[in-house]
Amino acid sequence: MRIDIISVVPQLMSSFFEHSILKRAKDKGVAEVHIHDLRDYTLYKHKQVDDYAYGGGAGMVMMAEPIDRCISQLKSERTYDAVIYLTPDGETFNQQMANRFSLGTNLIMLCGHYKGVDERVREQFITHEISIGDYVLSGGELGAAVLADSIIRLIPGVLSDETSALTDSFQDGMLAPPVYTRPEDYKGHKVPEILLSGHEKKIQEWRYEQALERTRTRRPDLYEKLKN
Ligand code: ADE
Repeated sequence: MRIDIISVVPQLMSSFFEHSILKRAKDKGVAEVHIHDLRDYTLYKHKQVDDYAYGGGAGMVMMAEPIDRCISQLKSERTYDAVIYLTPDGETFNQQMANRFSLGTNLIMLCGHYKGVDERVREQFITHEISIGDYVLSGGELGAAVLADSIIRLIPGVLSDETSALTDSFQDGMLAPPVYTRPEDYKGHKVPEILLSGHEKKIQEWRYEQALERTRTRRPDLYEKLKN
């Protein structure tokens, strides 16, 4: 998989991609992330990429032309499965969306800033508008990092334990059950007996029950969907 991220603050992102699971994905040749500085694509003086909003009001708007030039350049080099715009008014990101995107080959992620991008960019180039939650960030970069991490870790070969992504919270619509490691007794707090029994089937049943109960108490919204 290849992910191209378009940003006005590319420095913000490079460290994240050099020091995370994404670095492992890159070293294994499974996924690569390319970060593009939008200012390299502007024809304006002083590397300007934004301007005042027509109609007035506070805040600058990202201009269409640099974004058009960057996306068009990328599209002339390869075919993309999706051109994603990170924005608080997009569809809220979830595990199902991560699963779907992880099946793709090439993705573009455009990070918004200021008041956002000129609406004509959204109409003409963007295939998916995505938010990472109901709060406003100062730019889409953290959103792009969240998407890239959650998508790339699902690609076979990225996680060392092949099955571990399948048992994550949300993969089956449930939260994950509690987990324990050594010691068996930590300051009087013991590991549940069943996990020490070696009885595979009973352990699976216990984990399922725990996951169900966790979902019921912590995420009643997900629990309701499980019942339907
Ligand atoms: N840009 C600003 N806020 C955002 C959010 N919540 N999700 C994605 N991109 C954003």
